[in-house]
Amino acid sequence: MGKDVIIACDFSSGHETIEFLERFGEERPYVKIGMELFYAEGPDIVRQLKQRGHKVFLDLKLHDIPNTVGKAMRVLSGLDVDMCNVHAAGTRRMMEAALEGLTRPDGSRPLLIAVTQLTSTSQQQMEEDILIGRPMEEVVAIYGQRAQEAGLDGVVCSPLEAPAVHERLGSDFLTVTPGVRLAGDAAGDQQRVTTPAKARELGSDYIVVGRSITAAENPAAAYERCRQEFIG
Ligand code: C5P
Repeated sequence: MGKDVIIACDFSSGHETIEFLERFGEERPYVKIGMELFYAEGPDIVRQLKQRGHKVFLDLKLHDIPNTVGKAMRVLSGLDVDMCNVHAAGTRRMMEAALEGLTRPDGSRPLLIAVTQLTSTSQQQMEEDILIGRPMEEVVAIYGQRAQEAGLDGVVCSPLEAPAVHERLGSDFLTVTPGVRLAGDAAGDQQRVTTPAKARELGSDYIVVGRSITAAENPAAAYERCRQEFIG
C-alpha cells in the first residue's frame, strides 16, 4: 500500500472545494470529505470529486447500533469512495456489521478503518470526560485490535501512536494519521500533533492534513512540502 498525503477538504460548499482544488492545476490529490462538506452537499460532492479524478476518503465516522451502521454502510458502498470509517468505540459487533454492509455483492469494498481516539482528545480529557483511565497509546492499540478482529483494514490515530499500533497489529494494518502540522503552523484544537517528517519516521501509512494546507497562502506548495517530507 503506497504512502500518501490526504488533504482534509473541510469546506462548507462544493463550490469552495472545487475552487480550492483548482489551485492544484492538473494534480489530483487524495482528498478527505468530512461531515461539513458531506452534510452541505450530499453524495453528489463525492461523485463530482471522483469524476474529477481524485481518490476520496469519506470521513463520516459512523457510530450507532450495528443494524443502523450496517445499513448506512450499504448505502455508502454504492458511492465509489476509496476509504471510509467508523468509531471503534461502537464495538466489534458494530464494526463487523459495518464491514458486511460495505461489501458489495461482487466482494469488492472500499478500505474501512476505525477511529480510535480523536487526535483532539488529550490523555486528561480521555480520563475526565470519557472515563478511560489507561494510557492513550494502550487504548489506541487495543481499539485497533478490536478493529482488526472485526476484519477492518486499519485505524485512524495520531502518528505518535503509529509505532505501537504496528508493533501490536503488524505493519500491514494501516495507520491513517491526522494531527499533522508543518513546522511553525498553529496546532489549533489538535492535541497530539507531529510534522509530516516525524510521521514518516514513526511509520504512518497515510497522513491527513487539513489546515496546514487549506489555510496556507500557497496550498499547492504546502501540499508539495508535506509530500516531500512524508514520502521523499
Ligand atoms: O485541519 P486539521 O489538519 O487539524 O484537520 C484534520 C482532519 O482530520 C479534520 O478533518 C478532522 O475531522 C480529521 N480527524 C482528526 N482526528 C481523528 C479523525 C479525523 O483530526 N481522529
